[in-house]
Parts: sequence; structure tokens; C-alpha cells
Amino acid sequence: MTQHVRLGVVGFGWMGQAHARALTRVRHHYPDLPVVPELAMVADNAPDSRLELAKDSYGFAATTADWRELVTSDAVDVVSVTGPNFIHAEVAVAAAQAGKHLWVEKPAGRGLAETRAIAEAAARAGVHSAVGFNYRNAPAVEHARELVRAGRIGEVTHARFQMLGDYAAHPQGAHTWRFTRALSGSGVIGDLGSHGADLAEYLVGPIVRVMAQDCTFITQRPASVGAASHFSRGAGGPLETVENEDYVSMLVAFESGARGVLEASRASVGEQNAYGFVIHGRTGAIAWDFRRMGELRVCLDQDYQAAMWSTRLVGPGLAEFGVFQPDAGIAMSYDDLKVIEAKRLLESIVSGVPTGATLADAVRAATVAEAAMESITSEGWVKL
Ligand SMILES: NC(=O)c1ccc[n+]([C@@H]2O[C@H](COP(=O)([O-])OP(=O)(O)OC[C@H]3O[C@@H](n4cnc5c(N)ncnc54)[C@H](O)[C@@H]3O)[C@@H](O)[C@H]2O)c1
Repeated sequence: MTQHVRLGVVGFGWMGQAHARALTRVRHHYPDLPVVPELAMVADNAPDSRLELAKDSYGFAATTADWRELVTSDAVDVVSVTGPNFIHAEVAVAAAQAGKHLWVEKPAGRGLAETRAIAEAAARAGVHSAVGFNYRNAPAVEHARELVRAGRIGEVTHARFQMLGDYAAHPQGAHTWRFTRALSGSGVIGDLGSHGADLAEYLVGPIVRVMAQDCTFITQRPASVGAASHFSRGAGGPLETVENEDYVSMLVAFESGARGVLEASRASVGEQNAYGFVIHGRTGAIAWDFRRMGELRVCLDQDYQAAMWSTRLVGPGLAEFGVFQPDAGIAMSYDDLKVIEAKRLLESIVSGVPTGATLADAVRAATVAEAAMESITSEGWVKL
């Protein structure tokens, strides 16, 4: 039987709009999904025209400036929690208590305690969840996981995960909520490090020990004006103090015995969305770079030394690629990863079986982040 699932979005910026587009497109790519998605309501309090955009361009049935109206509305079944980090927990817990399924952007909470509170509220209410760990949805990443699990690189010895960006590299970059502990929680540890931790655990397995260092390269920024995004510049206003880190590097140890390095930065000049990994095993290696999403670099079935790499172009036979493009070498997009995320959430709702990244994964990533921060303070290894 086909079920109607009505989406409410709290926070209609970059991610809120990406969720809405994904839900709109999900049946284009997965016509057999027994769900009719509907765009029900958007809540956003920005003093600009984004509520009109939601109605006029996206086709949402209703809008409001008050997220409380949305999470308690009888016209909403799933709530996308896509506002700034400081409203995630309040919105998500209220939505779960009202019986709504949750599609929460990362980092789910401003730290481990809030992330656990969201996960517990969802569990108590018996609602399903998806979390925006979109990079694990890339077909090349899923293929890498299959190859690692099939032993094609042998026992994993060590791995490197890198999440480098330049969105905060400009000294005039506006001092938005992202740079304040009370509003954001950690800096890049939660923002990009959470994606890295999720990829690391998805591909190599549980992390059991962490030692980290951090740095804030730009310690003051001009105040933001209006509804500033990641990328806004300050308007020459007074300087405000940056309270959280621009950079983190962590040594990590996996339960399997493998060793690793996770590095994340929001202020790396020359790097834009430079997200990826290299995983080494006893008989091979595998590497991926988000900026070349459809390529997987593999070093399989080689001799121990002078081993050679080749590049696989991900094609229709691998993971979800075939529902987006008919042949290898045709690029998938970031938004496609969100379509896969939407599909997995809807599948969870219909089947009752959690599919894809859920709040349990958000709790894992937040546990790694918390351990990293504890390690920065104690200047030593921290066990998870
Ligand atoms: N998964 C990913 O790859 C990814 C990428 C970017 C951002 N994110 C996460 O998504 C979240 C949103 O980030 P973004 O880049 O879309 O931010 P954004 O600034 O573009 O959008 C946030 C929106 O929330 C609205 N908002 C703020 N306070 C509100 C309130 N009280 N009620 C209703 N609306 C409110 C703002 O007006 C804005 O429209 C963050 O948690 C971020 O970490 C995830």
C-alpha cells in the first residue's frame, strides 16, 4: 500500500532546501518506493523572502516563522532539522515527542549530551531517523566498503581521513553562529570532523582511542549582518572572538587494531570540500576524493612492493549509481547523495527497519568528537 509522507522543514537555508529537493526527486529515481512524498510546511525566521521561495518555487503547502507550529502540526509526518546547530536538539526532541520521524543534519547536537538526548527522544517515541552523513552514500564509498569487507586489500593496517575546507579561511569571513561555543558547540570537530568520524567507522569499524590537537588560526572575525551563511563576509563591523577551533588532527585507533589519522579544517587555503580517505591493508589500498566522486582509486591483488594503482569509474552495477545515471563516467551530484538519504529514511519508515545513517551513528560520531575534545584538554589519549 502506498503511504503519504509529509515533510516539514525547520531551517530553509542550504540544507533545508537540499532536503526539499531530495524528497521531491526521490520517486523520480526510486519509482517503486511505496511512498508518496509531499512538501507540507517550512519554518524559518529569516527576515528575507525564503518562505515565499518555499511556497512559490518549491511548492510547500504552508509556511511559518515559528518552528513550534510546524513540529506539532497534524499535516507533518517527518521533520527535517536543518537550522543552525543551536536549535537542533530543541526542535528534534519536540518533533519526536509529537511523533514525527526525524531527518537531522549533522552534527545532530552541539555535543554528545544533546545528541544522546535527541536519539533517546526518538527511541522513546518509536520514530525513525536519518542523519546527514551524506558522504557514506556515494556509490564509490559503498563500493570501497564492500572491497574492504571482502578482504580485497587484506587486513586494514592504517587509514587517513581528511576533511579540509576553506569556508572560514578569509579573515573577513563573518562571525556567524558557527564560531560561538554556545550556538555551535565545537568548531570544525563537529562540523567536518563528524563526517570524517562517520566515514572512518563506516569503512574501518569502531574507533576505540583518540589523541587530538586543535588550533584556531583566525581568532577574531567581523560581526555578521542578517541571515549570514557559511560563506558570508563581515561588513567591517566590530571584531568578535572566535570561540572554537578552525583545525583538528586526531590520531585514532580502531577496534580491529588498525591505526589512523583524521584531519579536519575549515580554514585551509587552497582546499575546497577536499574530503576523502586512503585506507591501507596488508595486500592493497583504496582511496577516494569527494571532488571526484565517481572515481575510486584501487590497489588490489598486488604484490607487497611496487604495487600499482588503477582508477575505477563507478558505474550502474555499483551501489545506487544506476538509478541516477545510465553509464560510468557521468557525474553524480552532491544533491544525489541527499536523494539516497531520503530514500533510506522513507524505506525505514515503510519497512520499520532502520536503513542508512541514523541517530545511532550521530551518537557514535559525537562520542569521537567528545573524546577528541577531552584529549585536547588533557593532552593525552582518551578511550571511547
Ligand atoms: N550534511 C552536510 O553535508 C551539511 C552541509 C552543510 C550544512 N550542514 C548542517 O546543516 C545545518 C544547517 O546548515 P546550513 O548550511 O543549511 O545553514 P544555513 O544558514 O544555510 O540555513 C539555516 C537556516 O535556518 C534558519 N533558522 C535559524 N534560526 C531559526 C529558527 N529559530 N527557526 C527556524 N529557522 C531558523 C535560518 O534562517 C536559515 O534559513 C547545520 O547544522 C550544518 O552543520 C550539513
